[in-house]
Amino acid sequence: MAKVTGFEGIVAAETDISLVDGENGRLVYRGYLAKDLAIEQSYEEVAYLLWNGQLPEQDELEQLHMRLANLRNIPEYICEIIDLLPLSISMMGVLQTAVAALGDAAGVAWPPTLQQAERLTAVLPSIVAYRYRKLNGLPIVEPDAQLGHAANYLYMLTGQLPEESHSKALNAYLILGMEHGMNASTFAGRVILSTQSDMNAAVCGAIGAMKGPLHGGAPYEVIAMLEEIGSKDRAEPWMRNALEHGARLMGFGHRIYKTNDPRAEALRIVTLQMTGEDPSFELAIHVENTAIRLLEEFKPGRRLFTNVEFYAAAILRAVQISPDLFTPTFTLGRIVGWTAHILEQASVNRIFRPESVYTGPMPAADLSVI
Ligand code: ACO
Repeated sequence: MAKVTGFEGIVAAETDISLVDGENGRLVYRGYLAKDLAIEQSYEEVAYLLWNGQLPEQDELEQLHMRLANLRNIPEYICEIIDLLPLSISMMGVLQTAVAALGDAAGVAWPPTLQQAERLTAVLPSIVAYRYRKLNGLPIVEPDAQLGHAANYLYMLTGQLPEESHSKALNAYLILGMEHGMNASTFAGRVILSTQSDMNAAVCGAIGAMKGPLHGGAPYEVIAMLEEIGSKDRAEPWMRNALEHGARLMGFGHRIYKTNDPRAEALRIVTLQMTGEDPSFELAIHVENTAIRLLEEFKPGRRLFTNVEFYAAAILRAVQISPDLFTPTFTLGRIVGWTAHILEQASVNRIFRPESVYTGPMPAADLSVI
């Protein structure tokens, strides 16, 4: 019987885009620590870095901002297609449908281009916000070209100009979600592109992979825990009781990172900067500090640190993004990594064609092998 490994330990590609270093708790984007980028740079700057290999000069940044802002509007026929979809279609299904339909209209051909990457990156938040507001019977909010990528997404979702702290926190979350090596959705995108299919087909496949709960699964359980705890004074008794009953604290521990998850660390710094401005952030910090202390007491030596899901949940809850939008919002960050990988794959392309080991029965009388 063949051993099915899920490709663990197999090198699928060489990449200049990112390094995931679980041993040392480092995530590197093109030579920069992702945690520093998330705190110091804008979504547009880091997208430019991942696509082009270097951070932009001021004029390059302004031009990118302008290009993305001009590409935010959803073509009318895409709105019509979205409106025809049954209400039961998930937001990830809506994104796949819209991306597929956008690809056909553009008549995209080999090789994929940076312009296509920018176009998809710019329009995806508008599609999520459009569908969300339609589903909730709210008037559609047109994009605001003055706002940065993260702030404009919040604005289109809520119809209100977002607080700066909320835009900043979401900006950091999106940057830290942009890229994470040869994860399942990125690999899916590269495989599709390797057949000389187009950018939009590859992104559709990546969205399909991201939709699965083993990959883009939302940090619902952390939210449920924070909701149940509710206030700082309840944190210790609630978590002590959970640990005494053998339960796991959601948002802590990681299979690969046995030291600080660099993404959680960066989101913690951003969250700390926001405390005093929003009680949700304060509660998250308090729950984390208490959890780390209690985990050391109940599970000494297990090296349990805060994982990215904890702060993803805390931040998305604080900026009031509805839980059903968690995976689509993660996608709005990861689209940058996918498209960077798709462009990289095109530049070195060879079709992916792994082998399989046949473990089924052989024909009873197969004369050809005699
Ligand atoms: N709370 C309490 N105890 C824990 C936790 C936790 N969050 N995580 C691990 N432990 C304990 C286990 O009970 C076990 O204790 P024992 O030695 O007394 O039996 C020990 O630590 C080791 O646990 P494993 O399950 O072997 O650790 P593993 O590395 O396989 O698990 C996992 C990693 C699944 C993430 C785990 O830490 C967990 O269940 N965390 C909570 C769920 C969570 O936050 N998931 C999101 C992960 S982040 C991501 O996927 C992007």
